[in-house]
Amino acid sequence: MPSPLSVPPVLHDRGVISRYRKYLPVTDATPIVSLNEGSTPLIHAVKLSAMVGGGRQVYVKYEGLNPTCSFKDRGMTLAISKAAEEGAKAVICASTGNTSAAAAAYAVRAGMRCVVLLPAGKISMGKLAQAVVYGADIVAIEGNFDDALDLVRELGSRDGFAVVNSINPFRIEGQKTAAFEIIDEFGEAPAVHCLPVGNAGNITAYWKGYKEYHAEGKSTRLPKMWGAQAEGSAPIVRGEVVKSPDTVATAIRIGNPASWEGANDAIASSDGHIRALSDEAILTAQAWLAANEGIFVEPASAASIGCLMAAAEEGMVEKLPEGVNIVCTVTGHGLKDIDTAMHHAGGGKVLDAKATAESVLDVLGMAH
Ligand code: F0G
Repeated sequence: MPSPLSVPPVLHDRGVISRYRKYLPVTDATPIVSLNEGSTPLIHAVKLSAMVGGGRQVYVKYEGLNPTCSFKDRGMTLAISKAAEEGAKAVICASTGNTSAAAAAYAVRAGMRCVVLLPAGKISMGKLAQAVVYGADIVAIEGNFDDALDLVRELGSRDGFAVVNSINPFRIEGQKTAAFEIIDEFGEAPAVHCLPVGNAGNITAYWKGYKEYHAEGKSTRLPKMWGAQAEGSAPIVRGEVVKSPDTVATAIRIGNPASWEGANDAIASSDGHIRALSDEAILTAQAWLAANEGIFVEPASAASIGCLMAAAEEGMVEKLPEGVNIVCTVTGHGLKDIDTAMHHAGGGKVLDAKATAESVLDVLGMAH
C-alpha cells in the first residue's frame, strides 16, 4: 500500500498553465487554480473529410470535454489564478451560460465568491444547473447578454469584483492554448480554422495563439480564420450592433461583441471570412455531427461545422490546396442544452415494448 504521503499535494499539473507556462503571464507568485483543463481531443471527422473532398482532412477540436464542458475553462484557469494572485475575494461575469459555469467552478477552487449575471430565460438548463450546484450567486437580468456585460463593467470598476469575462486579457491568454495544442499535435498549423463567434474572445485568442507559435517557428504557416455567427445575432457580419439579438444558439446570442476588433483583425489578417448561419442550418449541423461523426455538441458549437459545410457548398473549400488539414472547434458539450436538441429531433424515436425478448424484437421489426 502506498502511503497517503506519496500522493502529490498539488494535483493541478496537467492543466493548460502547467503545460504552456512559458507562454503565459504567470510567475512563482501566481497560485495555480486548475481543474486539469485542456488537452482536449482533436478527432478526425471521416465523413466530413469525404464531404469536403480533395483529400482534405477535417478534425474536430472537442472542447466540450473540458472540466465544465466548454472551452471557457482554458481562460478561466488563468483569470482566476491571476485574481487569486491579486488577492480578489469575489469574481463577477456576465454570461450566456458557459462562462458562468466555468467561473463558478474555478471560484470554488480558489475559495472566492462568484456572482453571475445572466439574461433571464435565455440560458440553457444544463448551464444554469452548473452555476447552481457550484454555488454561484445567480442574478437573472431583464435584458440580454450585452446589457449584463455593461453592468459587469460598472460593478467591476466600482465594487471590488474581479471581472472574469473575456474583456479580462488573462482569459484570452488562457484560451490561446487551444491553438498551441493543435500545432503540437499536427506539427503544423491547419490551413483553415472554423469556429463560432459570439463575444469574439475565442477567435481573438486562437489567432493570438497561432501567431505566437508561428513566431516561435513551431509552424510554417498561419491558418485562415473562418467564423460563424447566427443570422439573428450577426453584428460582425453586418458591420453594426444588433439591438435585440436572437437565435436558438443562446451561447452566441450577442449583439455587441466586446472583442469585435480582435475578430476583424483575425479575419482580415488571415485572409479569412465570417458568415451568418440560419438557426435551421445550425441545428442541422448539430444533428448531422452527432449522427454521422458521433460527436454531440451544443447548438452554438455546431456553427463551426455549419460554416465549413456552407463554405464547401459555395466552392470555397475547393480553392484550398488538396490534402490540407482543416480544424473546426466545437466549443461546448451537447448535454449542456438537451431541450433544444430533443425539440429539434421531434422528441426522438423511442419504441415501447414489453419486458420480453419477443416484444423487443417485434418493435424492432425483427420478430421471427
Ligand atoms: N460557443 C459557446 C458554446 C459559447 O458559450 C460561446 C460564448 C461561444 C461559442 C462564442 O465564443 O464569445 O469567445 O466568441 N459564450 C459566452 C458565455 C458568451 O457567456 O458563455 P466567444
